[in-house]
Amino acid sequence: MKFTGVSLIVILSILNNSSAYKILVYNSKFGHSNVNFYGNIADILVDAGHDVTSLMPEIDPSITNGTVKSKVILVPQTAGAKNIIDILRDEVNWFDLDPLDPRQLLVDFPYGNQFAPQCAGMLEQTELIDRLKEDKFDVMIAENFDMCGIGLVPLIRPKALINGAASAPLPRMNTEFGIPLSLSTNPSATNFRLDTHSFFSRLKNVYAEALGYNFFASSRSRVQQAFRDKFGPDYPSLTEISSHAAYTIINSEPLLDFATPILNRIVYVGGLGARDPKPLNQDLDKILSLRDRTVLISFGSIVKAHELDDTIKPSIIETTSRFPDVTFMWKYEQPDDDFAQRAKSLAPNLHLIRWIPQNDMLADRRLTAFVTHAGMGSTQELALRGKPGLFIPIFGDQMRNAGMMERSGVGKVFDKRDLGDWTKLTAAIEDLLENETYRINAQRLAAMIAKKPFSAREQLIKTVEFAAEFGASPALRPESYDMNWMEYNNLDIIAVFLILKALFVFSTVKIAFYIIRRLLCMKVKLD
Ligand SMILES: *[C@@H]1O[C@H](CO)[C@@H](O)[C@H](O)[C@H]1NC(C)=O
Ligand SMILES: *[C@@H]1O[C@H](CO)[C@@H](O)[C@H](O)[C@H]1NC(C)=O
Repeated sequence: MKFTGVSLIVILSILNNSSAYKILVYNSKFGHSNVNFYGNIADILVDAGHDVTSLMPEIDPSITNGTVKSKVILVPQTAGAKNIIDILRDEVNWFDLDPLDPRQLLVDFPYGNQFAPQCAGMLEQTELIDRLKEDKFDVMIAENFDMCGIGLVPLIRPKALINGAASAPLPRMNTEFGIPLSLSTNPSATNFRLDTHSFFSRLKNVYAEALGYNFFASSRSRVQQAFRDKFGPDYPSLTEISSHAAYTIINSEPLLDFATPILNRIVYVGGLGARDPKPLNQDLDKILSLRDRTVLISFGSIVKAHELDDTIKPSIIETTSRFPDVTFMWKYEQPDDDFAQRAKSLAPNLHLIRWIPQNDMLADRRLTAFVTHAGMGSTQELALRGKPGLFIPIFGDQMRNAGMMERSGVGKVFDKRDLGDWTKLTAAIEDLLENETYRINAQRLAAMIAKKPFSAREQLIKTVEFAAEFGASPALRPESYDMNWMEYNNLDIIAVFLILKALFVFSTVKIAFYIIRRLLCMKVKLD
């Protein structure tokens, strides 16, 4: 029998389909990097031959679907969620939040409060939830940021839950994943430097973690309350549901991240938010060919470049004008405003561009370096593409990401409060362009990631298929979930030991005194 190429493909796809699993990906539209991560996961699983549905609450409808291959179920934005999104978009000045002060988390800004009202709206959609239950999914993948997906698990009843983080685990997540905290060696999300030998540095880290823990507690307890309001006070806690996950996937690259203790069921799939790069369009291609070196500047999707304050924008013009041999491309949402006009005449090598396909741009050989806010998506893309960076974290886990990049030697952290000072910014860009060490380290890191024994994509597919076939293995769930604080830390044993030790010291002293007294008495009698 002779196979043509086409019939072989047909047969392969039939074989593939026979082991197709039904997978539900809970992918909440609250942030671009989150949607990219879970969207690409959905598409990779479709490519692997599975039947994938993405359940997408439209917390912020301006965010794209992230997935182009899976079936999408959108859950419309609720009024309560819209209210919070509007405040976050218009009233929070992200640049004013102090990155070095963990108290920023105590500032009354409502990040995280959008999840509970959206979740309550979802729970009203009983027909949808019933339908999802009848679909009998083999695996449900749900993030531990917008916790509504985790809460839905007892209703939808997939055979296995895979939970995950599109970032490095944030304060609350470590507990939900069952990961022991290692606060003396692992910087908390809002901390970018941890000097492990310094008392005050470690103290600050513990403080930052405690604040983060409280910060996330409030948004989580509201989501949990939404379930208990609807289904009664015995509805399982989010941590309890999470504890029964078959696996936990984390968007972090071990060759880049701080080394920390983890569990056997943790699977690192760093960089899965980045798709295979495509060639650039003609306009961008032309700009990249203008000069020998090109630097990309982007502060991400939450901070709008045109809204930056009046010291920062001129400082960026002043800085870029000092490097006439270098082209700068800046993601700038209003490339026709007054400032943009001014920039055109003052710094002809600075190009303001509304939207830049960052991942494709970073993959272009002609791009020299990246000035970035150090979101997890951006840092992973940078590492994959082997480019050096200047890391200017603005809020949240960007601090830790930036510190992680500096530690791996691919560039330096720059304090966002110094952005208005063009002398400092110029020195930092000069260092970024001229110090070859960053470029060499970045290329070595990218080569290592490319040649890892198991790629993130392989890890994901095998893990999902294994969970679909066997469900969660109880062996992988640590006992720590069912222990109280005293048991977990062996405080009872330490207490018994201390009491015995105290008794021993006490009785030794008592006996010593007794002997001394007797000796003294004897001496008196002898005299
Ligand atoms: C997102 O998914 C919905 C539902 O399938 C679809 O109607 C919409 O066009 C998608 N949006 C984009 C930008 O692809
Ligand atoms: C380049 O950067 C590395 C790493 O930060 C540093 O050790 C080295 O001294 C720098 N070299 C120069 C010439 O500044």
